[in-house]
Amino acid sequence: MIVLHTYLKQLCSGYVLLSFPLLISATAISQPPFSATTQLQYCQQQARKTLASLPADTPNIPRSIPANARQWKLVDYKDWTSGFWPGILWYLFEASHTDTFNVAAAKYASQLEPLSRQPAYDHDLGFQVYCSYGNGYRLTNNPAYKKILLATADTLATLYNPKVGTILSWPREVKHFGAHNTIMDNMMNLELLFWAAKHGGSKHLYDIARQHAITTMHNHFRKDYSSYHVVLYDTLTGKKIKGITHQGYADESMWARGQSWAIYGFTMCYRETKDTAFLNFAQKVADVYLQRLPADLIPYWDFDAQGIPNIPKDASAACVTASALLELSGFVTNKTKAAMYRAKAVQMLQNLSTDHYLAKETNTAFLLHSTGHKPNNSEVDASIIYADYYYVEALLRLQKL
Ligand SMILES: *[C@@H]1O[C@H](CO)[C@@H](O)[C@H](O)[C@H]1NC(C)=O
Ligand SMILES: *[C@@H]1O[C@H](CO)[C@@H](O)[C@H](O)[C@H]1NC(C)=O
Ligand SMILES: *[C@@H]1O[C@H](CO)[C@@H](O)[C@H](O)[C@H]1NC(C)=O
Repeated sequence: MIVLHTYLKQLCSGYVLLSFPLLISATAISQPPFSATTQLQYCQQQARKTLASLPADTPNIPRSIPANARQWKLVDYKDWTSGFWPGILWYLFEASHTDTFNVAAAKYASQLEPLSRQPAYDHDLGFQVYCSYGNGYRLTNNPAYKKILLATADTLATLYNPKVGTILSWPREVKHFGAHNTIMDNMMNLELLFWAAKHGGSKHLYDIARQHAITTMHNHFRKDYSSYHVVLYDTLTGKKIKGITHQGYADESMWARGQSWAIYGFTMCYRETKDTAFLNFAQKVADVYLQRLPADLIPYWDFDAQGIPNIPKDASAACVTASALLELSGFVTNKTKAAMYRAKAVQMLQNLSTDHYLAKETNTAFLLHSTGHKPNNSEVDASIIYADYYYVEALLRLQKL
């Protein structure tokens, strides 16, 4: 109501000002005040345009749009990002109760079903199947979705090494590294295991997820609570070998999206376990990220990369963090701190919802200016599907507060 009221007031004052053209402020007219509901409507419009543009034959799952391009680059179900598009469609169904999104979500998700019947390729099964079928089951209670989720959780658990106490994130890299490897992103995929343990799966899945988080908490962070992207462990003894980077600027740098996975992951682990060690840790990893942000609260792709402020940003990290902070603010008992986390999350979403970051007519994604893999020069300053996924998730979380 307050937002609507302010908006109406601005519209009215804009109307009055029309008789004095010299006094019109361009920004006041092109930039209405931020509201989650308005932004969710914008997301629906963009997603409808994407739906209309996608081919019927596979690969047809949108992944990213390069800077200055208009068309989505498409992938098939095996790609690690395949769950985000169906997940976005489920979220838009939740926001709109419109069958267009419900029907499309089910259609795109159905392509991922083979993942529940194949051996695990890597830890990304969580992103793929939880973001798609997890949201689908939450909104429909379809028992077929539940079966797929439970089977995939068991598949993901096959990558767990009890000697190390973590999931092997990239089996394909064991030869290259000569070691068991675990990446920060893997924290996100514990959610599928926690979910399965609560919904008829083995209780062992809960123990694996909890132990993975504990081991990661001990080994994956520097003294200032910034995270390594990758940690290598001895497969046989379980001992930590070293922390390195893959998508970050340097082994000792704070890669923006890695830190945002950590904020989100430990917050989620607290939700699922109620272990206050995770709640305290989530705040530590959030605080170092917040302290080092630039003025508009959208990070550069790596906090320590050379050339700041003339280097690409990563809007996707801001989306993941905003969503995480909205949840974290509901758990933190210190009221001042909780309010600060919530205010920061809202400011992030507000800044992402300005013309600088919104894709609007540039392409049919929701957002611009994300960076996927800078050292490989791939998806730099691009629209990327996981930025859109966590943007819409955060908007829904904000709307429910
Ligand atoms: C972004 O957020 C910061 C912090 O709230 C604020 O000072 C700044 O004006 C915002 N920038 C834009 C472009 O909205
Ligand atoms: C609550 O958080 C604020 C802001 O971080 C801090 O200054 C204050 O000391 C905290 N209060 C308690 C009781 O811990
Ligand atoms: C690196 O970039 C190439 C070319 O854009 C791409 O095909 C490949 O998938 C990228 N590799 C990684 C690990 O992102």
